[in-house]
Amino acid sequence: MSLHGRDITSIRDLSREEIEEILAAARKMIPLAEGTKVAHPLLERIVAMAFFEPSTRTRLSFEAAVQRLGGRCLTIADAGATSLRKGESLYDTIRMLSSYADAIVIRHPNEGSARLAARASDRPVINAGDGSGQHPTQTLLDLATLQEAFGTLTGLKIVLLGDLKYGRTVHSLAYALAEFGSELVLTAPPGLKLPEERSEEIRRAGGRVSEEPDLRKAIRDADALYVTRIQKERFVDESEFRKVAGSYRIDVDLLAGAKPRLIVMHPLPRAGEIAPEVDPTPHAAYFRQAFLAVPVRMALLTAVLGPAKRGG
Ligand code: NCD
Repeated sequence: MSLHGRDITSIRDLSREEIEEILAAARKMIPLAEGTKVAHPLLERIVAMAFFEPSTRTRLSFEAAVQRLGGRCLTIADAGATSLRKGESLYDTIRMLSSYADAIVIRHPNEGSARLAARASDRPVINAGDGSGQHPTQTLLDLATLQEAFGTLTGLKIVLLGDLKYGRTVHSLAYALAEFGSELVLTAPPGLKLPEERSEEIRRAGGRVSEEPDLRKAIRDADALYVTRIQKERFVDESEFRKVAGSYRIDVDLLAGAKPRLIVMHPLPRAGEIAPEVDPTPHAAYFRQAFLAVPVRMALLTAVLGPAKRGG
């Protein structure tokens, strides 16, 4: 595989083998992410963080990954402070940025913006979330979390709960899980089901998908429960959001009916979907998941920015 110089705008940009290689490299990078070992494969490299939408974990874990590997970041953390406010197009902003940095990580509220950025940039572009579209690096760390817990990504039964309509993390993750041969059970409040074209895409990737509105039933023999936040910021009509707000909450009582080894995942931030009482239980995997963002993003950046393989 050579990911050198490649854009990663969708999880579909990576083959199953490439994903496996990134996850294997990420496992080796855990001590670097923890700071117990030091290596600087990104020395003298500059990575631009172009974040036009709020972010905590994604931006900071990308920055931690770059800096622990010896590189440096140029960061836009507030779209309001850029020339976009003066009417500059995203295309121009990214084109200019690509002459300042060796790679660009972008988050933007519009679906398709990462692809547009990739056209504007002659440096690799990594999508850190484009509206309700894709969030491929989140998927890589979600897969790393599952693999660490179960030693495999095949034959698992995963419940995807929450906002499956607007949630970009599930759009990327569902596709990848289907490719790896895991089974998906979808549980969504009314109006927030996975869009038909996404389920179609998953079925084409060979995925087994079913719907189970009853959460207790859905989790009974599941290996993982992937909880998502209702994406309030994507609703056109606030009253539609209020109808579904608070419609599900994971607590210890609910988990009593699950396998002892079931893990609860969440891309975070949570906004009341998981009761804090779940945190100290062995089910809670979401903070480990947030940590794994660092070694996974280290592995991806090193592959994209690192020296090209001989002949590759
Ligand atoms: C997610 C996102 O931005 O899509 N957060 C993240 O990157 N960890 C999920 C969310 O905001 O609900």
